[in-house]
Amino acid sequence: MTVRIFEDLASLSSAAANVFVKEAREAVSRSGKFTFALAGGNTPKALYHLLAEEPHLSAVEWDKVHAFFGDERWVPASDPSSNEGMAREALLSHVPIPARQVYPMYQGGSVEQACADYEEKLRLIMPSGLDLVLLGMGDDGHTASLFPGIPELRETTKWVVPTLSPKGVRQRVTLTFPALEMARSVLFLVSGADKHPELEKAVGGDPALWPPSGVLAHRSANASFFVDRSAAGSTVHDLG
Ligand code: 6PG
Repeated sequence: MTVRIFEDLASLSSAAANVFVKEAREAVSRSGKFTFALAGGNTPKALYHLLAEEPHLSAVEWDKVHAFFGDERWVPASDPSSNEGMAREALLSHVPIPARQVYPMYQGGSVEQACADYEEKLRLIMPSGLDLVLLGMGDDGHTASLFPGIPELRETTKWVVPTLSPKGVRQRVTLTFPALEMARSVLFLVSGADKHPELEKAVGGDPALWPPSGVLAHRSANASFFVDRSAAGSTVHDLG
């Protein structure tokens, strides 16, 4: 696991955009496609805007990209809380990714059926794991919609499950640890002083203190935290 500290969200997002382009190029030359999962929330918006503009826009072979979601609030894309709606507005509607290669989680109807359908797509398209997973971290240390203390943290076989959020839209759908930790690369984007206490635990060496983001980071083969100085504070340092 590595930790890189940036002055601010803008420089963090610029570095993340360069990682995205590098991972996409390597994946396409390796397998002919690039599969990644979009993060929800606010932090990744700056990254998404950068990817939708030059020089990154033409640096990615978007026709070979498959965009999944790490999690979703159980609302239609038109809802202001929708991660899909945010990603379409900030990135997906501005890049030439084929519509059939964007895989929304929300499909209405039964949330259990939607999880089963999504898992089927994931296992078909990326049986050995996503190339890149983009993730944020909440101020309680959650990532995707894997919240502290929920039973779904103990899931060992399913890749997509429903969860309940303690804040905001209660019904969620999320990739699980088994699905996330299979990824070739996991990139956490963490910004803001409110994230410091849980970030310190997540990157620390005591497993007993790890919030879900820390559990995933330590289980993953290649996890990185890109954090700004506000989130790092005086006790989180560059690592790896
Ligand atoms: C979501 C995200 C969630 C998010 C964190 C951080 O659906 O909300 O998947 O895990 O990444 O809550 O959100 P901010 O970037 O808005 O702080």
